[in-house]
Amino acid sequence: MTTRIIATGAYAPGQVITNNDLAKIVDTSDEWITQRTGIKERHISSGDNTSVLAINTAKQLLERAGVEAESVDLIIVASVTPDYGTPSLGCMVQKEIGAVNAVAFDVTAACSGFMFALSIADKYIRTGVYNNAIVIGAETLSKIVDWSDRSTCVLFGDGAGGAFVEKSETDGIIKEEIGTKGELYDILTEGYTSCSNAFNGNESGTDPLWYVNMNGREVFKFATKSVVKSVERVLASADVSPDEIAYVVPHQANVRIVEVISNKLKIPYEKFYMNMDRYGNTSSASIPMALNELNERGLVKRGDKILLTGFGGGMTWGTMLVSW
Ligand code: UT7
Repeated sequence: MTTRIIATGAYAPGQVITNNDLAKIVDTSDEWITQRTGIKERHISSGDNTSVLAINTAKQLLERAGVEAESVDLIIVASVTPDYGTPSLGCMVQKEIGAVNAVAFDVTAACSGFMFALSIADKYIRTGVYNNAIVIGAETLSKIVDWSDRSTCVLFGDGAGGAFVEKSETDGIIKEEIGTKGELYDILTEGYTSCSNAFNGNESGTDPLWYVNMNGREVFKFATKSVVKSVERVLASADVSPDEIAYVVPHQANVRIVEVISNKLKIPYEKFYMNMDRYGNTSSASIPMALNELNERGLVKRGDKILLTGFGGGMTWGTMLVSW
């Protein structure tokens, strides 16, 4: 028994912000952003919160999977930018699509979030607890980006992507691993809320650590090392060689990270599917949004071996080898 992705979906807000638009608000240029990251534009919400993006993706997944909402067993949403502390985005999705028989919750693993969520769904399905799941990564990173910090604001975008998965006797998830290295947590943080208790007369206001804070070079090093090792372990445990891989769907952070990973793994660059030029880094939404585009373009066929792999804050990573 395994877990198979039977449908993919994605949703991005309509407003598109180009590198030249950003050059009007911070000291940057299209040339710098393109050369250092490969990003040309990103979608930025003009008011819709993360739940709206997640709900639109969930509706698309139900339609494409041809499944009634009442038949959904599990909903997991990965996000670092939920609307609320509580309720979870999962519960908000459950209400809006009418999945009255599902259990819903969120997971937090930053840009690896979708990989963690899919891994959890796989365990529930593989062990026979549930038959199917909606798994979504959704973010409005625009609300936790400091729009005056050129070193981070040029990198991120808003969006959501997801997969409908169900139990399968044949094709599906072959091998996967998720991992964490908490000792490095402070090289990439966001969303800090301090414990300044107004009762004790402390001042309230937005803490500077609310915004994305990142040591870009350290994250770059972590990304290349962790993804390469993780992919090598997953391929070895499945006894699959790199040349058997049809496509790799990496976390869409930076084309230079992908170049390093491609060289080290000796998997041709053309096999890495990328859309960060048009969406930027959408954190937990990045892998499912790229996977959905790959699928929509009809580039994968049944039985193809695909690798999904990403890294993120925590620090975290996750890799999955899938037979499509
Ligand atoms: O999902 C995980 C999210 N994070 C990542 O994936 C980040 C991984 N790291 C990276 O992608 C890269 O480190 C960055 C794209 C963030 C930065 O690229 P870099 O080649 O490591 O540049 P740098 O930070 O070393 O900065 C080089 C120069 C600096 O100027 P000086 O000190 O050389 O004068 C920066 O101040 O570029 C400057 N700089 C900029 N210049 C124009 C930084 N941001 C910008 C900008 N426009 N937006």
